[in-house]
Amino acid sequence: MNRKRTLVVSMMVCTFLAVSLVVALAGGGLLPKADGSAVYEYITKTSPYQQWPLFHGKEKLYEGKHPHGAFLTTYVNDLALAGFKARIGTLADGAIIVKENYITDKILGAVTVMYRVKGFDPEAGDWFWAKYGADGSIEKEGKVAGCIGCHTAAINNDWIFTGPVK
Ligand code: HEC
Repeated sequence: MNRKRTLVVSMMVCTFLAVSLVVALAGGGLLPKADGSAVYEYITKTSPYQQWPLFHGKEKLYEGKHPHGAFLTTYVNDLALAGFKARIGTLADGAIIVKENYITDKILGAVTVMYRVKGFDPEAGDWFWAKYGADGSIEKEGKVAGCIGCHTAAINNDWIFTGPVK
C-alpha cells in the first residue's frame, strides 16, 4: 500500500470510530459508576429518563403506597425493559428503574432509583439505591439500609415490587 492510500484508510477508520462513539453516547451507551451524582447526571442529561419507556403495564401517575408517594410515574431503561419482557428473573447489569414520587398529581416530592451494578452489593442483589429531591439534591445513595430493608420483602422478584420479573 502506498502512503496516500494508508492515509485514506486511516482517516476512514478514525471517522468510523468517531461516529461509533457519538452513536454510543447518544444511545446512553456509557453507564455511570455507582455514585449519586454520576447516576443523576446520567439519568437527566446523558440519557434523560423521561424519554424511557414506562414500567410495563403502568400509566403515568398511578397510585402509590407509603413511603413513596400518593402518585408514582416509573420509567425503565431498555436493559430493564428487555429483562421484564423476557421474564429474565434477575435484571441485567446496567438495568435502571427511575420512579418519580408525587405528593399530589402535580407536586414532585422525590425521585428514587434502583440501578443494578454487578459486584456493588452482592448481599443485597447488587442494587445501587438513590433518592433525590425534586431539585436533584441527593438525599440518599448507595447501600441504603432503609431501602434494602423494605425491598427485601420482594427478594424473590429481584427486590422489585411493581411488576413481575419472573
Ligand atoms: C417501607 C417500604 C419501602 C421503603 C423503605 C422503600 N421502598 Fe421502594 N418501593 C416500595 C413499594 C411498596 C414499591 C411499589 C410501589 C408503591 O406501591 O409504592 C416500591 C417501589 C420502588 C421502585 C420501583 C421498582 C419496584 O421495586 O417496584 C423503586 C425504584 C424504589 N422503590 C426505590 C426505593 C429507594 C431508592 C428507597 C430508599 C431511599 C426505597 N425504595 C425505599 C417500598 C419501599
